[in-house]
Amino acid sequence: MKTKAAILWETGQPWSVEEIELDPPLENEVLVRIEAAGMCHSDDHVRLGDGYAALPTIGGHEGAGVIEQVGPGITDLAVGDHVVFSFTPACGRCRWCVNGRSNLCDYGQFLMEGSMISGGYRAHARGRDVGTLSLVGTFAERTVVHETSVIRVDPELPFEVACLLGCGVPTGWGSAVNIGRVQPGDTVVVVGIGGIGANAVQGALLCGAQNVVAVDPVPFKLEQAKLLGATHTAASMEEALPLVTDLTRGVMAEVGVCTIGVVEGRMIQPFVNLVSKGGRAVLTGMARNVDDKPVLGLQMFSLFEKSLLGTVYGGCNPRSDIPRLGALYKAGRLRLDELVTRTYALDEINQGYADMLAGKNIRGVIVNSF
Ligand SMILES: NC(=O)c1ccc[n+]([C@@H]2O[C@H](COP(=O)([O-])OP(=O)(O)OC[C@H]3O[C@@H](n4cnc5c(N)ncnc54)[C@H](O)[C@@H]3O)[C@@H](O)[C@H]2O)c1
Ligand SMILES: [Zn+2]
Ligand SMILES: [Zn+2]
Repeated sequence: MKTKAAILWETGQPWSVEEIELDPPLENEVLVRIEAAGMCHSDDHVRLGDGYAALPTIGGHEGAGVIEQVGPGITDLAVGDHVVFSFTPACGRCRWCVNGRSNLCDYGQFLMEGSMISGGYRAHARGRDVGTLSLVGTFAERTVVHETSVIRVDPELPFEVACLLGCGVPTGWGSAVNIGRVQPGDTVVVVGIGGIGANAVQGALLCGAQNVVAVDPVPFKLEQAKLLGATHTAASMEEALPLVTDLTRGVMAEVGVCTIGVVEGRMIQPFVNLVSKGGRAVLTGMARNVDDKPVLGLQMFSLFEKSLLGTVYGGCNPRSDIPRLGALYKAGRLRLDELVTRTYALDEINQGYADMLAGKNIRGVIVNSF
Protein backbone atom coordinates (compact mmCIF):
# COMPACT_ATOMS: atom_id res chain seq x y z
CA MET A 1 0.00 0.00 0.00
CA LYS A 2 0.98 3.63 -0.38
CA THR A 3 1.48 5.67 2.77
CA LYS A 4 3.53 8.62 4.07
CA ALA A 5 6.67 8.73 6.20
CA ALA A 6 9.50 11.04 7.31
CA ILE A 7 12.77 9.64 5.98
CA LEU A 8 16.36 10.51 6.79
CA TRP A 9 18.33 9.89 3.58
CA GLU A 10 21.65 11.36 4.68
CA THR A 11 23.24 12.44 7.95
CA GLY A 12 22.61 16.10 8.72
CA GLN A 13 19.73 16.48 6.24
CA PRO A 14 16.24 17.46 7.41
CA TRP A 15 13.50 14.81 7.62
CA SER A 16 11.91 14.29 4.20
CA VAL A 17 8.18 13.61 4.34
CA GLU A 18 7.21 11.62 1.29
CA GLU A 19 5.13 8.79 -0.08
CA ILE A 20 6.41 5.27 0.56
CA GLU A 21 5.36 1.81 -0.54
CA LEU A 22 4.61 -0.45 2.44
CA ASP A 23 4.46 -4.25 2.10
CA PRO A 24 1.91 -6.30 4.06
CA PRO A 25 3.08 -7.87 7.35
CA LEU A 26 4.92 -11.19 7.09
CA GLU A 27 5.15 -13.91 9.76
CA ASN A 28 4.90 -12.52 13.33
CA GLU A 29 4.50 -8.95 12.07
CA VAL A 30 1.66 -6.45 12.33
CA LEU A 31 0.68 -3.37 10.36
CA VAL A 32 -0.14 -0.41 12.60
CA ARG A 33 -1.94 2.85 11.76
CA ILE A 34 0.03 5.42 13.69
CA GLU A 35 -2.18 7.99 15.39
CA ALA A 36 0.47 9.92 17.33
CA ALA A 37 4.26 10.03 17.62
CA GLY A 38 6.45 11.85 20.14
CA MET A 39 9.51 13.77 19.04
CA CYS A 40 12.29 12.52 21.33
CA HIS A 41 15.75 14.09 21.24
CA SER A 42 17.32 10.71 20.32
CA ASP A 43 15.98 10.97 16.75
CA ASP A 44 17.85 14.24 16.41
CA HIS A 45 21.04 12.52 17.58
CA VAL A 46 20.47 10.04 14.74
CA ARG A 47 19.78 12.84 12.24
CA LEU A 48 23.09 14.49 13.16
CA GLY A 49 25.00 11.21 13.01
CA ASP A 50 25.59 11.20 16.79
CA GLY A 51 23.47 8.10 17.28
CA TYR A 52 23.93 5.20 14.90
CA ALA A 53 21.25 4.05 12.46
CA ALA A 54 21.59 2.54 9.02
CA LEU A 55 20.31 5.00 6.39
CA PRO A 56 17.94 5.61 4.78
CA THR A 57 15.59 5.21 7.70
CA ILE A 58 12.10 6.24 8.68
CA GLY A 59 12.51 8.16 11.95
CA GLY A 60 10.60 8.00 15.19
CA HIS A 61 10.60 5.54 18.07
CA GLU A 62 7.78 6.93 20.25
CA GLY A 63 4.32 6.18 18.94
CA ALA A 64 0.83 4.80 19.47
CA GLY A 65 -1.77 3.51 17.08
CA VAL A 66 -4.20 0.79 16.05
CA ILE A 67 -3.44 -2.60 14.52
CA GLU A 68 -4.92 -2.75 11.01
CA GLN A 69 -3.56 -6.07 9.77
CA VAL A 70 -1.82 -9.08 11.32
CA GLY A 71 0.59 -11.43 9.60
CA PRO A 72 0.66 -15.24 9.91
CA GLY A 73 1.55 -16.61 13.36
CA ILE A 74 0.14 -13.71 15.38
CA THR A 75 -1.91 -15.16 18.22
CA ASP A 76 -2.10 -12.56 20.96
CA LEU A 77 -2.67 -9.36 18.98
CA ALA A 78 -5.70 -8.58 16.84
CA VAL A 79 -6.97 -6.03 14.35
CA GLY A 80 -8.35 -3.06 16.31
CA ASP A 81 -5.99 -3.43 19.28
CA HIS A 82 -4.54 -0.17 20.54
CA VAL A 83 -0.78 -0.43 20.86
CA VAL A 84 2.23 1.56 21.99
CA PHE A 85 5.54 0.91 20.24
CA SER A 86 8.51 -0.13 22.33
CA PHE A 87 11.84 1.27 21.14
CA THR A 88 13.59 -1.93 22.12
CA PRO A 89 11.88 -5.19 21.21
CA ALA A 90 11.11 -7.57 24.08
CA CYS A 91 11.28 -11.17 22.88
CA GLY A 92 10.25 -12.67 26.24
CA ARG A 93 12.68 -15.56 25.86
CA CYS A 94 16.28 -14.34 26.07
CA ARG A 95 18.16 -14.33 29.40
CA TRP A 96 17.56 -10.59 29.85
CA CYS A 97 13.81 -10.82 29.22
CA VAL A 98 13.27 -13.79 31.52
CA ASN A 99 15.26 -12.09 34.28
CA GLY A 100 13.09 -8.98 34.20
CA ARG A 101 15.53 -6.81 32.25
CA SER A 102 13.84 -6.81 28.87
CA ASN A 103 15.14 -3.30 28.13
CA LEU A 104 18.36 -5.23 27.40
CA CYS A 105 16.65 -7.87 25.19
CA ASP A 106 19.04 -9.65 22.84
CA TYR A 107 16.83 -8.60 19.92
CA GLY A 108 18.43 -5.20 20.54
CA GLN A 109 21.16 -6.45 18.20
CA PHE A 110 18.77 -5.80 15.30
CA LEU A 111 18.31 -2.14 16.26
CA MET A 112 21.43 -1.04 14.43
CA GLU A 113 20.69 -2.85 11.20
CA GLY A 114 17.53 -1.07 10.12
CA SER A 115 16.12 -4.21 8.52
CA MET A 116 13.34 -6.33 10.03
CA ILE A 117 14.09 -8.96 12.70
CA SER A 118 13.02 -11.66 10.26
CA GLY A 119 15.07 -10.06 7.50
CA GLY A 120 14.40 -7.69 4.62
CA TYR A 121 12.50 -4.40 4.49
CA ARG A 122 8.78 -3.67 4.34
CA ALA A 123 9.16 0.03 3.43
CA HIS A 124 10.45 1.26 0.08
CA ALA A 125 10.87 4.71 -1.48
CA ARG A 126 12.65 6.17 -4.50
CA GLY A 127 13.30 2.58 -5.64
CA ARG A 128 15.24 1.72 -2.47
CA ASP A 129 14.62 -0.26 0.71
CA VAL A 130 14.09 1.96 3.74
CA GLY A 131 14.71 0.89 7.36
CA THR A 132 12.69 1.81 10.43
CA LEU A 133 14.38 3.52 13.36
CA SER A 134 14.42 1.35 16.50
CA LEU A 135 12.59 -1.30 14.41
CA VAL A 136 9.43 0.83 14.57
CA GLY A 137 9.71 4.08 12.53
CA THR A 138 6.81 6.02 14.03
CA PHE A 139 7.21 9.20 11.96
CA ALA A 140 4.80 7.76 9.45
CA GLU A 141 1.11 7.16 8.88
CA ARG A 142 1.54 3.40 8.85
CA THR A 143 4.33 0.97 9.66
CA VAL A 144 4.96 -2.78 9.73
CA VAL A 145 6.71 -4.06 12.86
CA HIS A 146 7.59 -7.31 14.56
CA GLU A 147 5.18 -8.40 17.30
CA THR A 148 7.92 -7.98 19.92
CA SER A 149 7.95 -4.21 19.25
CA VAL A 150 4.33 -3.49 20.20
CA ILE A 151 2.57 -3.51 23.56
CA ARG A 152 -1.24 -3.66 23.74
CA VAL A 153 -2.66 -0.85 25.89
CA ASP A 154 -5.95 0.31 27.37
CA PRO A 155 -8.02 1.70 24.45
CA GLU A 156 -9.23 4.52 26.69
CA LEU A 157 -5.76 6.12 26.72
CA PRO A 158 -5.68 9.10 24.32
CA PHE A 159 -3.12 8.45 21.57
CA GLU A 160 -1.37 11.81 22.11
CA VAL A 161 -0.31 10.78 25.58
CA ALA A 162 -0.12 7.01 25.01
CA CYS A 163 2.69 7.56 22.49
CA LEU A 164 4.88 9.03 25.25
CA LEU A 165 4.69 5.68 27.06
CA GLY A 166 6.97 4.24 24.37
CA CYS A 167 10.09 6.15 25.45
CA GLY A 168 9.97 9.46 27.35
CA VAL A 169 7.78 8.38 30.24
CA PRO A 170 9.33 5.00 31.11
CA THR A 171 12.88 6.21 30.41
CA GLY A 172 12.61 9.24 32.69
CA TRP A 173 10.44 7.60 35.34
CA GLY A 174 12.57 4.46 35.42
CA SER A 175 15.82 6.45 35.60
CA ALA A 176 14.65 7.74 38.99
CA VAL A 177 12.68 4.69 40.17
CA ASN A 178 14.61 1.65 38.87
CA ILE A 179 18.15 2.90 38.39
CA GLY A 180 18.26 5.77 40.92
CA ARG A 181 16.19 3.70 43.40
CA VAL A 182 14.82 6.87 45.03
CA GLN A 183 13.62 6.32 48.60
CA PRO A 184 11.04 8.28 50.63
CA GLY A 185 12.67 11.42 52.00
CA ASP A 186 15.49 11.54 49.45
CA THR A 187 16.74 14.63 47.68
CA VAL A 188 16.83 14.16 43.91
CA VAL A 189 18.34 16.44 41.28
CA VAL A 190 17.08 16.16 37.71
CA VAL A 191 19.30 17.94 35.20
CA GLY A 192 17.58 18.71 31.86
CA ILE A 193 13.78 19.06 31.77
CA GLY A 194 12.66 17.70 28.40
CA GLY A 195 10.37 14.78 27.68
CA ILE A 196 12.69 12.50 29.65
CA GLY A 197 13.58 14.75 32.60
CA ALA A 198 9.95 15.75 33.23
CA ASN A 199 9.21 12.09 33.91
CA ALA A 200 12.26 11.64 36.14
CA VAL A 201 10.78 14.45 38.27
CA GLN A 202 7.47 12.55 38.42
CA GLY A 203 9.16 9.22 39.19
CA ALA A 204 11.12 10.77 42.06
CA LEU A 205 7.93 12.28 43.50
CA LEU A 206 6.05 8.97 43.26
CA CYS A 207 8.88 7.35 45.27
CA GLY A 208 8.35 9.91 48.02
CA ALA A 209 11.35 12.18 47.47
CA GLN A 210 11.36 15.14 49.85
CA ASN A 211 13.20 17.55 47.56
CA VAL A 212 13.15 17.36 43.78
CA VAL A 213 15.46 19.96 42.26
CA ALA A 214 14.89 20.63 38.55
CA VAL A 215 17.83 22.10 36.63
CA ASP A 216 17.51 23.65 33.16
CA PRO A 217 18.72 26.91 31.57
CA VAL A 218 15.28 27.54 29.98
CA PRO A 219 12.84 29.35 32.34
CA PHE A 220 9.77 27.74 30.67
CA LYS A 221 11.16 24.29 31.52
CA LEU A 222 11.55 25.21 35.16
CA GLU A 223 7.96 26.53 35.28
CA GLN A 224 6.75 23.23 33.84
CA ALA A 225 8.85 21.23 36.30
CA LYS A 226 7.22 23.17 39.16
CA LEU A 227 3.76 22.38 37.77
CA LEU A 228 4.73 18.69 37.82
CA GLY A 229 5.74 18.98 41.48
CA ALA A 230 9.46 19.86 41.52
CA THR A 231 10.15 21.57 44.84
CA HIS A 232 13.13 23.69 43.75
CA THR A 233 14.70 24.91 40.51
CA ALA A 234 18.09 26.11 39.27
CA ALA A 235 19.29 27.42 35.90
CA SER A 236 22.53 25.39 35.88
CA MET A 237 24.39 22.65 37.76
CA GLU A 238 26.71 25.36 39.13
CA GLU A 239 23.67 27.20 40.50
CA ALA A 240 22.21 23.96 41.87
CA LEU A 241 25.39 23.17 43.87
CA PRO A 242 24.91 25.75 46.68
CA LEU A 243 21.13 25.17 46.61
CA VAL A 244 21.46 21.39 47.13
CA THR A 245 24.23 21.95 49.70
CA ASP A 246 21.87 24.20 51.64
CA LEU A 247 18.82 21.95 51.32
CA THR A 248 20.70 18.88 52.59
CA ARG A 249 23.05 20.57 55.10
CA GLY A 250 25.99 19.56 52.93
CA VAL A 251 24.98 15.91 52.48
CA MET A 252 23.95 16.46 48.80
CA ALA A 253 21.39 14.49 46.77
CA GLU A 254 20.97 10.76 47.21
CA VAL A 255 20.11 10.53 43.51
CA GLY A 256 20.93 12.60 40.43
CA VAL A 257 19.44 12.02 36.99
CA CYS A 258 21.08 13.65 33.96
CA THR A 259 18.69 14.02 31.03
CA ILE A 260 20.47 16.82 29.17
CA GLY A 261 19.72 16.77 25.43
CA VAL A 262 23.37 16.67 24.33
CA VAL A 263 25.64 15.50 27.16
CA GLU A 264 29.29 16.59 27.08
CA GLY A 265 32.20 14.93 28.86
CA ARG A 266 32.93 18.11 30.82
CA MET A 267 29.42 17.94 32.39
CA ILE A 268 30.09 14.72 34.30
CA GLN A 269 32.13 16.22 37.16
CA PRO A 270 29.59 18.96 38.02
CA PHE A 271 26.83 16.34 37.75
CA VAL A 272 28.55 13.86 40.07
CA ASN A 273 29.33 16.74 42.49
CA LEU A 274 25.58 17.07 43.12
CA VAL A 275 25.24 13.58 44.64
CA SER A 276 26.05 12.54 48.19
CA LYS A 277 28.51 10.00 49.58
CA GLY A 278 27.15 6.63 48.44
CA GLY A 279 24.89 8.49 46.00
CA ARG A 280 23.82 7.41 42.54
CA ALA A 281 24.34 9.62 39.49
CA VAL A 282 22.20 8.24 36.66
CA LEU A 283 23.28 9.16 33.13
CA THR A 284 20.31 8.89 30.78
CA GLY A 285 21.07 11.70 28.32
CA MET A 286 23.28 10.90 25.36
CA ALA A 287 26.58 12.38 24.28
CA ARG A 288 27.82 12.87 20.73
CA ASN A 289 29.97 10.04 19.38
CA VAL A 290 32.91 12.43 19.25
CA ASP A 291 32.56 13.69 22.83
CA ASP A 292 31.78 10.64 24.89
CA LYS A 293 34.73 10.65 27.32
CA PRO A 294 33.83 11.74 30.86
CA VAL A 295 35.89 14.26 32.80
CA LEU A 296 35.79 12.96 36.37
CA GLY A 297 38.15 13.19 39.33
CA LEU A 298 38.53 9.54 40.31
CA GLN A 299 39.95 9.79 43.84
CA MET A 300 36.94 11.43 45.49
CA PHE A 301 34.65 9.34 43.30
CA SER A 302 36.10 6.21 44.96
CA LEU A 303 36.46 7.60 48.48
CA PHE A 304 32.88 8.94 48.54
CA GLU A 305 31.67 5.64 47.11
CA LYS A 306 29.63 7.31 44.40
CA SER A 307 28.07 5.44 41.48
CA LEU A 308 27.75 6.69 37.92
CA LEU A 309 25.11 4.54 36.25
CA GLY A 310 24.21 4.32 32.58
CA THR A 311 20.71 3.35 31.56
CA VAL A 312 18.64 2.50 28.53
CA TYR A 313 14.85 2.81 28.91
CA GLY A 314 15.29 3.59 32.62
CA GLY A 315 15.63 -0.12 33.28
CA CYS A 316 11.95 -0.62 32.42
CA ASN A 317 10.29 -3.77 31.15
CA PRO A 318 8.13 -2.39 28.35
CA ARG A 319 5.58 -5.19 28.48
CA SER A 320 4.75 -4.63 32.14
CA ASP A 321 5.74 -1.00 32.68
CA ILE A 322 3.97 0.62 29.70
CA PRO A 323 0.50 -0.61 30.80
CA ARG A 324 1.41 0.16 34.43
CA LEU A 325 2.34 3.77 33.62
CA GLY A 326 -0.86 4.10 31.56
CA ALA A 327 -2.85 2.96 34.61
CA LEU A 328 -1.06 5.50 36.84
CA TYR A 329 -2.06 8.21 34.35
CA LYS A 330 -5.70 7.09 34.41
CA ALA A 331 -5.60 7.08 38.20
CA GLY A 332 -4.39 10.69 38.15
CA ARG A 333 -1.01 9.83 39.69
CA LEU A 334 1.10 10.53 36.60
CA ARG A 335 0.66 13.67 34.52
CA LEU A 336 0.93 13.13 30.80
CA ASP A 337 -1.40 15.74 29.26
CA GLU A 338 0.87 18.46 30.65
CA LEU A 339 3.87 16.96 28.82
CA VAL A 340 2.41 17.56 25.35
CA THR A 341 3.24 21.22 24.82
CA ARG A 342 2.35 21.34 21.10
CA THR A 343 1.06 19.03 18.41
CA TYR A 344 2.19 19.01 14.76
CA ALA A 345 1.17 17.42 11.47
CA LEU A 346 3.69 14.93 10.05
CA ASP A 347 4.60 17.53 7.40
CA GLU A 348 5.64 19.90 10.20
CA ILE A 349 8.21 17.53 11.70
CA ASN A 350 11.24 19.75 11.04
CA GLN A 351 9.47 22.67 12.74
CA GLY A 352 8.74 20.35 15.67
CA TYR A 353 12.43 19.55 16.06
CA ALA A 354 13.41 23.23 15.68
CA ASP A 355 11.00 23.99 18.54
CA MET A 356 12.51 21.18 20.66
CA LEU A 357 16.01 22.57 20.14
CA ALA A 358 14.77 26.08 20.95
CA GLY A 359 13.45 24.80 24.30
CA LYS A 360 9.80 25.52 23.46
CA ASN A 361 8.38 22.08 24.21
CA ILE A 362 8.45 19.54 26.99
CA ARG A 363 7.33 17.20 24.17
CA GLY A 364 6.15 18.00 20.68
CA VAL A 365 3.82 15.30 19.35
CA ILE A 366 2.95 14.51 15.73
CA VAL A 367 -0.75 13.78 15.35
CA ASN A 368 -1.90 12.15 12.11
CA SER A 369 -5.33 12.89 10.72
CA PHE A 370 -6.91 10.24 8.54
N1 LIG B 1 19.08 6.30 27.71
C1 LIG B 1 17.93 6.17 27.06
O1 LIG B 1 17.34 5.10 27.01
C2 LIG B 1 17.34 7.36 26.40
C3 LIG B 1 16.05 7.32 25.89
C4 LIG B 1 15.51 8.47 25.35
C5 LIG B 1 16.24 9.63 25.27
N2 LIG B 1 17.52 9.64 25.74
C6 LIG B 1 18.33 10.85 25.71
O2 LIG B 1 17.92 11.68 26.78
C7 LIG B 1 18.25 13.03 26.47
C8 LIG B 1 17.05 13.91 26.72
O3 LIG B 1 16.05 13.65 25.77
P1 LIG B 1 14.76 14.62 25.65
O4 LIG B 1 13.93 14.08 24.55
O5 LIG B 1 14.18 14.84 26.99
O6 LIG B 1 15.50 15.98 25.15
P2 LIG B 1 15.00 17.50 25.19
O7 LIG B 1 15.81 18.23 24.20
O8 LIG B 1 13.51 17.55 25.11
O9 LIG B 1 15.40 17.98 26.68
C9 LIG B 1 16.72 18.22 27.07
C10 LIG B 1 16.73 19.35 28.07
O10 LIG B 1 18.09 19.58 28.50
C11 LIG B 1 18.22 20.96 28.75
N3 LIG B 1 19.65 21.31 28.83
C12 LIG B 1 20.53 21.53 27.82
N4 LIG B 1 21.76 21.82 28.32
C13 LIG B 1 21.64 21.78 29.68
C14 LIG B 1 22.55 21.98 30.76
N5 LIG B 1 23.85 22.26 30.54
N6 LIG B 1 22.09 21.88 32.02
C15 LIG B 1 20.78 21.59 32.26
N7 LIG B 1 19.88 21.36 31.28
C16 LIG B 1 20.31 21.46 30.01
C17 LIG B 1 17.47 21.61 27.59
O11 LIG B 1 17.14 22.96 27.87
C18 LIG B 1 16.24 20.70 27.50
O12 LIG B 1 15.18 21.19 28.28
C19 LIG B 1 18.74 13.01 25.03
O13 LIG B 1 20.15 12.94 25.01
C20 LIG B 1 18.18 11.73 24.50
O14 LIG B 1 18.88 11.23 23.39
C21 LIG B 1 18.08 8.53 26.30
ZN1 LIG C 1 13.37 8.37 22.99
ZN1 LIG D 1 14.54 -10.79 24.94
